[in-house]
Amino acid sequence: MPQTTFPAGIQAVLFDADAIAAAIGDMARRIARDYAGRELILIAVLKGALFVAADLARALSEVDEGPDVQLDFIAVSSYGNAHRSSGEVRLVSDTTHSVEGKDVLIVEDIVDNGHTLSYLRALFSNRAPASLGAAVLLDKPYRRVVDVPVEYAGLTCPDEFVVGYGLDYQERYRTLPYLAKLRPEVLPP
Ligand code: PRP
Repeated sequence: MPQTTFPAGIQAVLFDADAIAAAIGDMARRIARDYAGRELILIAVLKGALFVAADLARALSEVDEGPDVQLDFIAVSSYGNAHRSSGEVRLVSDTTHSVEGKDVLIVEDIVDNGHTLSYLRALFSNRAPASLGAAVLLDKPYRRVVDVPVEYAGLTCPDEFVVGYGLDYQERYRTLPYLAKLRPEVLPP
């Protein structure tokens, strides 16, 4: 049943569940074509990429002759204030399996200034994968501080503080099935 009221703090829906599913389906078709018949390890970057990785992995399994997908997880955190990262990234929890000799795709919910993805790409590059790429649902290319490649981007994100579908503000709103703009008055000045 469509939702007509939103949690306090939500100003507007930017991408609803259908738009998200369409973007992930499109990413899955591109990825499936490029990795057809190969083994592919998706590395979900916790916590934000939990939902993207789950839906992308399932969308990939529905493509005929797509890759044989395995999932792994990594958790990182960036130092900074409530809504701006400082650029320093810290490894919180590592993957459980070696990526040496494997095709690896880092799965992110959002790339903003690029520090997190840049850190992760460097980390995995040093582990001798057969190939390394990144699939990102939301891209904010105009916010980049670090120039980092994104092989598969789903949606270009407006310049708003976005929550939902894995993205949080102070650990809230992650479980919303849509991507929404947070009311500016909720954020610190
Ligand atoms: C978010 C997001 C990315 C990162 C992108 O993670 O999931 O990992 O920020 O930002 P950047 O491009 O500016 O580095 P966050 O640190 O909020 O942690 P979370 O995934 O646990 O919410």
